[in-house]
Amino acid sequence: MIVGVQRESYPGERRVALVPTHLPRLGKAGLEVCVEAGAGDGAGFPDATYESSGARIVPDRRALCSEADLLLAVHGPGASADRRAEELGLLRREQVVVGLLNPLGAPENGQALAERGVIGFALELLPRISRAQPMDALSSMATVAGYKAVLLAAAELGKMFPMMITAAGTITPARVFVIGAGVAGLQAIAVSHRLGAVVHAYDVRPAVKEQVESLGAKFVEMALETQAAEDASGYAKAMGEEFYQRQRELMGRAVADSDVVITTAAVPGKRAPVLITREMVLSMAPGSVVVDLAAEGGGNCELTRAGETVQLDGVTILGPVNLPATVPNHASQMYSSNVTAFVSNLIKDGRVDLDGDDPIVNDTLLTREGKVVSTRVRELLASEERRSS
Ligand code: NAI
Repeated sequence: MIVGVQRESYPGERRVALVPTHLPRLGKAGLEVCVEAGAGDGAGFPDATYESSGARIVPDRRALCSEADLLLAVHGPGASADRRAEELGLLRREQVVVGLLNPLGAPENGQALAERGVIGFALELLPRISRAQPMDALSSMATVAGYKAVLLAAAELGKMFPMMITAAGTITPARVFVIGAGVAGLQAIAVSHRLGAVVHAYDVRPAVKEQVESLGAKFVEMALETQAAEDASGYAKAMGEEFYQRQRELMGRAVADSDVVITTAAVPGKRAPVLITREMVLSMAPGSVVVDLAAEGGGNCELTRAGETVQLDGVTILGPVNLPATVPNHASQMYSSNVTAFVSNLIKDGRVDLDGDDPIVNDTLLTREGKVVSTRVRELLASEERRSS
């Protein structure tokens, strides 16, 4: 089988799905690799490095798609609107595509892949089981995003993070409040703490209190009934508006007292809960910063605009999107490791085995034989159809 690595066309994307160091692992599974020219340039992996690691360079996407049996992508083909028709048109029936295909955010992309007869695997649908951990690309990317969110906040804030005792007086440490202590939130806590800030954090899942504390932060206790806030697979569940109203009231103090608020609260497949209102932003001191990592999912702050910076009364609200693309080298290295593990598991005796009972294969399979086969995504498509009719 030939594995193809595409040069990403999504606006602002600098990652690449496979880095040269992982080629030998695919070679061991009997796979050959060809790479679209320039695919790794944005992440610091020139064509020559791929070639010396055993890959073949092909001149463009057309050549890549005609050669590859299995395409590795960060964003699925057709994700960028201006090249959608061209990229989808190059795909062949039964060609396998593995990537972050955004099945829950843009289920119509899955439909488009299905119409091309592609066998699509969406890494976002990976089950959270221990065997799948080495393949967990969302966690890898959230780790990068949590790290970068702190750097953005530190660069925007007119204060320094660490405490400093100097001849010019004592500088008090910045106060950071992280809301949502999943993968991105825990990383944001760890990096803020390392930079010397005083860190507080909150999550609706009581189980994470210990993890928050082990990273040097204080868990903000709130009189909220959270026993029902976690589902069987360890994700947060969507709560009613009454719950969020109470949460906002209880968090008011912690937000007002912070120089930086980093929000990462997410419920899979649902719009991000609004946890910071305009009034709460107005309660913050001028010069404070909110970094809303949930911007793309609707935002945890009601003022957030995805991909933009909003100012209100001296407070800056950042709504960054696609942050992993801004740390392309390490983000690619981590993603490539996840993808390599996924493909190594997928290929049995030199071919893709679709008919076993492996939950990793079955859950991530998005399209097959011209159809969207993932139940979750089919439900989303059906509800969108209902809404538009
Ligand atoms: P995760 O599922 O690991 O963590 C989300 C956390 O939010 C969970 O711990 C959950 O319990 C918590 N949560 C849910 N409702 C809450 C509430 N009402 N109050 C407090 N906590 C609540 O997700 P992960 O991977 O950490 O991602 C977090 C967010 O960052 C997501 O919205 C994700 O899409 C986004 N993200 C953004 C990127 C960017 O470039 N802007 C890149 C990667 C991820």
